[in-house]
Amino acid sequence: MAQLIGGLGTSHIPAIGGAIHKGLQNDPYWKPFFDGFPPIREWLAKEKPDVVVMFYNDHGLNFFLDKMPTFAVGAAPVYNNADEGWGIPTLPPFKGEVDLSWHIINTLVDQAFDIVSCQEMLVDHACTLPLKLFWPEGECPVTIVPVCINTVQFPLPKASRVYAMGKAVGAAIGSWASDRKVAVVASGGLSHQLDGERAGFINKAFDLQFIDSLESNPEWATQFSIHEIVEKAGTQGVELLQWLAMRGALTTAAPKVKRLHTNYHIPISNTATAAMVLEAVG
Ligand code: DHB
Ligand code: FE
Repeated sequence: MAQLIGGLGTSHIPAIGGAIHKGLQNDPYWKPFFDGFPPIREWLAKEKPDVVVMFYNDHGLNFFLDKMPTFAVGAAPVYNNADEGWGIPTLPPFKGEVDLSWHIINTLVDQAFDIVSCQEMLVDHACTLPLKLFWPEGECPVTIVPVCINTVQFPLPKASRVYAMGKAVGAAIGSWASDRKVAVVASGGLSHQLDGERAGFINKAFDLQFIDSLESNPEWATQFSIHEIVEKAGTQGVELLQWLAMRGALTTAAPKVKRLHTNYHIPISNTATAAMVLEAVG
């Protein structure tokens, strides 16, 4: 069976794509953010996953406000990136892991998660930037399964439901008849609010508590309603749900996880950024 080796998390602010394009990684504004990635790259170079399951939210590229699935799973052989209007260069297509996609889709539907399956799917900055940050040079060496969770248009799935969905994805990975190594990735957050009276809102205390909870008490965040998460983390800070799904997958895969690395930095654009590696133990 396939092996789920660990989970990674990162923020996905579009301006990161511009900074990579312009080679600004050592610029004083960007350095504290990019410094979070060499330890992640070292872990990836050592562990060599073959496949990444990416928990992320689409921001209007593939799904717009007229059609917004709560959960959608990609089942495409190839995923194209496209211009979202942020002025960042588009990245070359990413290869899909179709067999795992269908195994995840079948497992989720069997466990009563009524997802949308997508045999064609454009992927936006939230899916592409983590892959570019993890593997900055050359072609992306992993195949991917994008799992899209709506954190954009209300009503949003509640934290406990997202955590349960992540657990079901973990069960699917663990029962996939393959000898491949799989890593799960969370893209988004942490606290940020781009709109309204509280634009620029950041909550460091809450973010740090959330990061700590992911290692040893992953159900901590499931106590909060969506409106409480918006209050604590901001309207776009609800993207932390992606991290909860990633952690749910690890909960199924391993009795314990070990936090190998965290980077937390405020701000990039309007966002408190985090990057993390959780290794599955035992
Ligand atoms: C920003 C953050 C995001 O998560 C996003 O999707 C777009 C923009 C920002 O802080 O600029
Ligand atoms: Fe976002």
